[in-house]
Amino acid sequence: MITLKTDEQIKLMHAAGRVVASCHKELAKIIKPGITTIEIDQFVEHYLHKHGATSAQKGYYGYEYVTCASINDEICHGFPRNEPLKDGDIVTIDMVVDLDGGLADSAWTYPVGNITKEAKKLMDISREALYKGIEKAVAGNRIGDIGHAIQEYVEGHGFSIVRDFVGHGIGAKIHEAPQIPHFGLPNRGPRIKEGMVITIEPMVNIGSWESKMDSNGWTVRTMDGSLSAQYEHTIAITKKGPILLTEQL
Ligand code: MF3
Ligand code: CO
Repeated sequence: MITLKTDEQIKLMHAAGRVVASCHKELAKIIKPGITTIEIDQFVEHYLHKHGATSAQKGYYGYEYVTCASINDEICHGFPRNEPLKDGDIVTIDMVVDLDGGLADSAWTYPVGNITKEAKKLMDISREALYKGIEKAVAGNRIGDIGHAIQEYVEGHGFSIVRDFVGHGIGAKIHEAPQIPHFGLPNRGPRIKEGMVITIEPMVNIGSWESKMDSNGWTVRTMDGSLSAQYEHTIAITKKGPILLTEQL
């Protein structure tokens, strides 16, 4: 069932989204060769605490960290670890935050030091693909319009879009209906309505879209070992169009 949110609920989620966004802006400053993803996770934990927020993902189905930290060929749900990031790596930091009962979810891929031209292009296309999807997140459209726009854009630039993980409704829980695939046909799926709050979070690979699960049961990586990037916003559908609750201002 798709639950529509009141203006009041969206306000709470927006407040949580502002904490997520400002935290990501701080991460952009500290992510450099030598830092470990455990240190990044601890930074985020302190940052949330300082801003009166808590992690919504720590403890979620037994997940043990406040962030997912997915390096290079890791697509999503990487575990923070005690190993320094290296010059040329790319790392996606994903977090879901709870502030006064409002949830917000946003992931961002960061370069570590100097990265290759190809990695830079992957990041640019992934981020632009997110905005192509957001443009379609308008009341009256269908959910399939979002994924179709993303897939066309990504494949048009020679990259591939992950099929096995999707965006989602968010509200009282991290994952609610509907699922938001980042691929597919236009004019399919549920009608988009005012009051829906969803994530759009395309995961884009340089090589094939296929993924495999690590033995830890969480971490997903590209089947062919190619690099993967991801950008995610939490978005409210309103009369005035999509509002990015996690926008980095
Ligand atoms: N944005 C991630 C997702 O929607 C956050 C997952 S929380 C976790 O999958 F606990 F599952 F990691
Ligand atoms: Co999400």
